[in-house]
Amino acid sequence: MLTLEGLVCGYGPFVAVHGLDLVVPPAGVVALVGANGAGKSSTIMAVAGHVQVLEGTIRLDGEDITRLPARERLRRGIALSPEGRKLFPDLTVAENLEIGGYIHPRARVARSRERVLSLFPRLGERLDQQAGSLSGGEQQMVAIGRALMAEPRLLMIDEVSLGLMPKVIDQIYAAIVGLRADGIAVLLVEQSTRRALAIADEVCVLESGRPVWRGTAAEARGNQTLIDAYLGLREEAPS
Ligand SMILES: Nc1ncnc2c1ncn2[C@@H]1O[C@H](COP(=O)(O)OP(=O)(O)OP(=O)(O)O)[C@@H](O)[C@H]1O
Ligand SMILES: [Mg+2]
Repeated sequence: MLTLEGLVCGYGPFVAVHGLDLVVPPAGVVALVGANGAGKSSTIMAVAGHVQVLEGTIRLDGEDITRLPARERLRRGIALSPEGRKLFPDLTVAENLEIGGYIHPRARVARSRERVLSLFPRLGERLDQQAGSLSGGEQQMVAIGRALMAEPRLLMIDEVSLGLMPKVIDQIYAAIVGLRADGIAVLLVEQSTRRALAIADEVCVLESGRPVWRGTAAEARGNQTLIDAYLGLREEAPS
């Protein structure tokens, strides 16, 4: 569904990703992992249209979208829950969600809001609360919910579990599994890889902007050398 061919992207003269091939199949879950500064966020921001592509091609269902504006990519079904969540802290939960659906007519926005609230019932109790006053977990639900308001076919989530309690992480990952069951493909970025490996189909490990390993999550889980070198699975205690 999403195909990256030799993606090179960066900021002005600085190249953050040096040639990445990646495929996210329909209803597939792909995890992009790697240390700080590896180029994970840059990759998904380039897919969303927010980081400059210097070389290579981004395809959605075979169609070249490399030069399309971000809004057009959103219309075609690529939505992003960004690093740091980037909520509008002074706006309410309901308003933040509404913004996510801005490309769709109102009736459709009301329907997708119902779907988001059934995925994250907690948000239903907090619709009139300012997003900035929510807990970290609730904010993550709003960020993912806001992306889902665009009714994407591909949802990209940066830093899925960063700073969240294990119980909340469980809820978020359960939601991701539910989205996949509904046919939505998910490209997720994680530093803590244990949970990502538990649900992902494919894993791509980035180091200094280069893919250094790729394979199925089952292969990654069985590869102790990879785990020791890149995945840091011991950092997070099992919950
Ligand atoms: N706006 C920017 N301007 C210049 N360089 C940037 C910018 N954003 C990121 N970079 C650089 O691009 C490289 C990749 O950064 P990126 O944010 O993609 O890494 P990451 O894998 O998401 O890291 P983290 O796990 O810390 O979020 C880093 O060297 C970073 O300093
Ligand atoms: Mg990042």
